[in-house]
Amino acid sequence: TNYETLLFEVENEIGVITVNRPKALNALSEQVHSELNALLKEFKNLNKDYSIAKGLILTGAEDKAFIAGADIKGMTTMTAEQAESFARLGQENTLLFESLNVPVIACVNGYALGGGCEMAMSCDFIYGTKTAVFGQPEVKLGLIPGFGGTQRLSKLVGRNRAKEITYSGRNVGVEEAKEIGLVVAIFETKDEMLESAKTYLSKMMRNSPHAILEAKRVMNEGNDLTISEGLNVEAKAFGAIFNSDDMKEGTKAFVEKRKPVFTGK
Ligand code: HXC
Repeated sequence: TNYETLLFEVENEIGVITVNRPKALNALSEQVHSELNALLKEFKNLNKDYSIAKGLILTGAEDKAFIAGADIKGMTTMTAEQAESFARLGQENTLLFESLNVPVIACVNGYALGGGCEMAMSCDFIYGTKTAVFGQPEVKLGLIPGFGGTQRLSKLVGRNRAKEITYSGRNVGVEEAKEIGLVVAIFETKDEMLESAKTYLSKMMRNSPHAILEAKRVMNEGNDLTISEGLNVEAKAFGAIFNSDDMKEGTKAFVEKRKPVFTGK
């Protein structure tokens, strides 16, 4: 499918989604979220057997911005009802990223503000270039975060630090973002970052794709649960994975002192 505001390319089994509205610093209009919704749903449907990709990258077109937030101009004419639907659509996309059967790395170049920071946080983890800037500046506009930022930032960096960042609306530079656990690695250039993300995803998927999917599912589910509920989900999944081909192959290969050949099943 062709999209006006997104690019989607697959190379060596790694898909790259690029938000492509450079004139507005890739700001998330309703169109971007609708197209992203369609793309993610189609990907989820068609990639059940990993026939499209084994990993995904989310990034922004050009160097200056990953995503500079929700589209502020578009929001000036929204009613309360339309704004709620807009938030729900963006939130649905964050949940779609979390429910995909592949790991997703956000590759942040330049500004990841407001909705941009929120989309990055719904990926499995975040890489940044040395120019990457994060923040939830919504209160400067009389708004609050609406694509999950009031929930995910607290879970990632701790509630009190998240409040300090959100109430001030200040920029969080990439070094600080790494210190507080928002970013896992910093790169000199966008190209270097994308290459490293592709290499990492390819190498990682030589591990059992089925096991990675299960780890992702259980870790994301546990995020919303108490420790005992989360441990229960873990124990069930640990048991169920013994019926998988990958588990049988991985443990057998270890005993036979050879490399496993995983099918993702
Ligand atoms: C619409 C945007 C935009 C945005 C930038 N642009 N951010 N358009 N929505 N979020 C547009 C500008 O209007 C401008 O277009 C062009 O992109 C280039 O931006 P400049 O401001 O000229 O660039 P610069 O001076 O380098 O400043 C970069 C910036 C600044 C610091 C990132 O653009 C900025 O503060 N943007 C807004 C960041 C923000 O507040 N984000 C949170 C939004 S609220 P023209 O046509 O004038 O050249 C949000 C809520 C999420 O995200 C939840 C919703 C439910």
